Amino acid sequence: MIVALTGQKGGVGKSTTAIGLASAAFARGLRVLLVDADPQGTARTWGDVAAESGRRTPTVVAMGANMHRPGQLPGLAADYDLVVIDAPPRHGDVQRSALMIADLAVVPCGPSAADAWALASTLEMIEEARALRPALSACLLVTRKQGRTALGKGARTVLASSGLPLLATELGYRIAYQEALAAGMGVAEFAPRDPAAKKSTPCSPKY
Ligand SMILES: Nc1ncnc2c1ncn2[C@@H]1O[C@H](COP(=O)(O)OP(=O)(O)O)[C@@H](O)[C@H]1O
Ligand SMILES: [Mg+2]
Repeated sequence: MIVALTGQKGGVGKSTTAIGLASAAFARGLRVLLVDADPQGTARTWGDVAAESGRRTPTVVAMGANMHRPGQLPGLAADYDLVVIDAPPRHGDVQRSALMIADLAVVPCGPSAADAWALASTLEMIEEARALRPALSACLLVTRKQGRTALGKGARTVLASSGLPLLATELGYRIAYQEALAAGMGVAEFAPRDPAAKKSTPCSPKY
């Protein structure tokens, strides 16, 4: 299965989610490929930090706007149970390439109205990809949510109007995500007792 973390906005948690997902699947014994498609190289740097401390991680490779082409990711993906693509913000060509090969696009989104408004161009891009590939599934993931604020509580209502299904699982605003990233670890391994490492609530059977 190929899961792409996509979205035009930066700083919403694409890399954090990609790394967390890839690490959790790897820890469960799956063969996992983490594709760093962002020139900023967050996933690659995370992999380097992990390697320096002798920690085993999913295989991390860098790819760009050609990843969907034959001989690129399609060939590599066959050797893995799960491929997670960490897409860059803004670079539309790279995001489109990821959407040409993904089974599922997960769009992380912050909990405010401004976050929801910024989704428009991402939703358009997903719609275009689905016109070519009707089998592409897509969903929204609320991230950086601060539960006790009115904004956090209203996040789901704001995002429900986006037209994409909202995952029941949400990522709260937790420093453990930031610390795990810096330590080259998955959050569940880094802080197993932190709520950030909690197993997800079951959500829509489709996902
Ligand atoms: N749920 C969260 N709680 C706290 N900090 C977060 C959370 N998700 C992301 N961050 C932090 O926000 C910053 C941007 O996240 P990142 O995953 O790099 O976003 P993107 O890849 O979408 O640009 C990073 O410093 C990251 O550690
Ligand atoms: Mg990123």
